[in-house]
Amino acid sequence: MAFSSESNMAPLFGDEYQSLRESVSALAQKKILPFAQDVDENARYPQEAADALQQAGLAAAHVPEEFGGQGADALATVIIIEEVARVCGASSLIPAVNKLGSVPLLIGASQEQNKKYLTQLAQGKGFSYCLSESEAGSDAAAMKTKATASGDKWILSGSKKWISNAGVSEFYTVLATTDPSKGSKGISAFIVEKSDAGVSFGAHEKKMGFRGSPTREVYFDNVELSQDRLIGEVGTGFGLAMKTLDHTRITIAAQALGIAQGALDVAKRYSHERQQFGKAIFDFQAIQFMLADMAMQIEAARSLTYAAAVKSERGEVDLTFFSAASKCFATDVAMKVTTDAVQILGGYGYVSDYPVERMMRDAKLTQIYEGTNQIQRIVMARNLDTLN
Ligand code: CAA
Repeated sequence: MAFSSESNMAPLFGDEYQSLRESVSALAQKKILPFAQDVDENARYPQEAADALQQAGLAAAHVPEEFGGQGADALATVIIIEEVARVCGASSLIPAVNKLGSVPLLIGASQEQNKKYLTQLAQGKGFSYCLSESEAGSDAAAMKTKATASGDKWILSGSKKWISNAGVSEFYTVLATTDPSKGSKGISAFIVEKSDAGVSFGAHEKKMGFRGSPTREVYFDNVELSQDRLIGEVGTGFGLAMKTLDHTRITIAAQALGIAQGALDVAKRYSHERQQFGKAIFDFQAIQFMLADMAMQIEAARSLTYAAAVKSERGEVDLTFFSAASKCFATDVAMKVTTDAVQILGGYGYVSDYPVERMMRDAKLTQIYEGTNQIQRIVMARNLDTLN
């Protein structure tokens, strides 16, 4: 055990992750941050971020190298999302949604399906995930969208709600019931293309946060799908959807972590610049305690999120618990930290001169999507026995 500054102990996570962080951070500062406020104010798609991420191979870095991706592991993907979210939450949804839409294929699709679709994902065609419906949010198995067998085809009808990057993405993993009498065991997963006849999109939702990322309904009006659009076996869709979330709730934790870190960055800087009562507000213990708490909570969230990412990569038995725990903890931290950042900036924090009010609005959604934090606690409770 070494205590001196000359310790040659290996960093907790290898050097390659540190250099990845530095390069994503540089790209985010230069090519994403300058547009973040405009993207939010005008609720417009962050095309500059999409282009920059795609050019750098970061829009879907998790895609295996054999399909033209970077083969980024779960921890590397977390770091990419975290560093983008640190400057722009809406832009961080690009790599996060691409992973969410395509993990069902990585888990359950055939080599041919993966070759066809993941190759195009790596080339820049987005992939969204269609699970939720207007009457099936937390109770995902209550979905009504159905796929009916007709000859050698499936006919898909119904609609999905709150679909991130809907309309921008070229491909959609859609969960539909193929046998309503079987509940969650009668659900199957399909690949749907934006250009399939009968696919259309609703109006853009007017959202509190993540305003640059389009959220729309997706409608399926008797969409004809060939057998090669079915992912895995009939009736295995719900398990596939849940297994997917085990891997991707960690990316929401990463997003929350980045948003919280971004808010701390601003609050810390501001506290040294802002003078009141003849000194920098950082010199008041009340502000120091807030900043210390914010940093402490972020570091705890980061440790849990990185641990969950390692478990995702290794497919460990307690992944379901860790994934839900990291999402729940990091997003609650993001809500608290961004609210405190607004408080530290006072009147300046409440207006859009500084990004912390945007970050606070963005943080709120992370407590809701990919399963509310109440659902995460249910998932954790059901998986307590998997812990050591
Ligand atoms: N891995 C594998 N299988 C799983 C599983 C997992 N993690 N979780 C559940 N299953 C299986 C169960 O074993 C069970 O199978 P058996 O019957 O063979 O045992 C089956 O799935 C049904 O499981 P449950 O009985 O636990 O199902 P439930 O109806 O009680 O629901 C739930 C469980 C955890 C509440 C689930 O409905 C859920 O996660 N709800 C939240 C939905 C959600 O997260 N939506 C997010 C939408 S995506 C989004 O928000 C993306 C975005 O915009 C960025």
